[in-house]
Amino acid sequence: MSSNPLIIEKTPHILVLGMGGTIAGLASKPEENPLQYQAGQVGVDTLLNHIQSAIPQGVALVSKQIANINSRNLDESLLTTLGLAVQEALNDQAVKGIVITHGTDTMEETGLFLQLTCGKQALTQKKRVILTGAMLPSNAPGADGPSNLLDALRWASTAIDNCPGGIFAVMDGRGCMAMDLAKRHATALNAPIQNSPSSSVSLINLSWLSGVKAVGAAWTEDLPIPGEGEWPWVEILTSHAGARPQTVGQWLGSGVQGLVLAGSGSGGFHDAWITPLEKAASQGIAQVRTTRTGAGATLANIPELDPSGRMAAGTLSAPRARIALQMALNAAKQANLAGKPLTWQDFFARIADLPEIR
Ligand code: SIN
Repeated sequence: MSSNPLIIEKTPHILVLGMGGTIAGLASKPEENPLQYQAGQVGVDTLLNHIQSAIPQGVALVSKQIANINSRNLDESLLTTLGLAVQEALNDQAVKGIVITHGTDTMEETGLFLQLTCGKQALTQKKRVILTGAMLPSNAPGADGPSNLLDALRWASTAIDNCPGGIFAVMDGRGCMAMDLAKRHATALNAPIQNSPSSSVSLINLSWLSGVKAVGAAWTEDLPIPGEGEWPWVEILTSHAGARPQTVGQWLGSGVQGLVLAGSGSGGFHDAWITPLEKAASQGIAQVRTTRTGAGATLANIPELDPSGRMAAGTLSAPRARIALQMALNAAKQANLAGKPLTWQDFFARIADLPEIR
């Protein structure tokens, strides 16, 4: 484990895990064109050194570089590594909170993954795990990374207005549950959080907080982290005008285990898919339906009847529904190996039915 200047590993500290992203990015000509940059260039130790003078007094930090990538290249084995590191840290009495610096492109997936595998543990251990990132590279004028990282460190290290332990994200002065993150703007500084139910980091919104507590009460058991190489293969297919049966048909017999159908409107899909999806179901390919619109819930049997087996994804976006289906397929496999007759649908329903924070 690498450490930043103030480190005392067995005394109480905040653990900062580096994954890369724009927060660790470098632009070649930052003054001229800050958006021409490479993500994942600067180590997490250096990011902490840049803000050292502003770190709240008495907060000791330990840092660990898990990866330094552009998060569009995030893969499942890295999620396994990150999940295991977070679980270990949650069990370590010296760790009082965890901050993860991460690219914003796929923070959405990592956020839900950590909620499903570590959310209950974080609540029980009364520790906050905070994802943060940036939209501007570290050497850009007005870079947003330092203030986001400082907010995340404060959020992870301070007792704030009854805010319980859990998996959160902080960007642009606001905090949300990490499972609610959704990057829906290419460049805005608040892109990952602007469409998510959130609170100001300095003044906690009480109705948001009651939603956080409702999620904590509903999420009663974490799901197992798939081992490296054990992640179920799940693809996302988007329905659109002119959709072809081959878009589904090409997956038949491929070994794919699940399909997320990002449908139009409230989660319907092109009629051209009906027959190949029936064939996919007969091959045991799990299917969930969500909406490509970017917001709102996909409900069971709306707009059309779901054949038995296919599930609606509630408010889960397509990237989140994909992680949820992978976790559900893996959890059902582990349960069956342990002699429990549970299905992926049993686990997926627990996820899709989590209370919606408004
Ligand atoms: C990334 O996701 O690694 C690049 C984009 C970003 O962090 O904003």
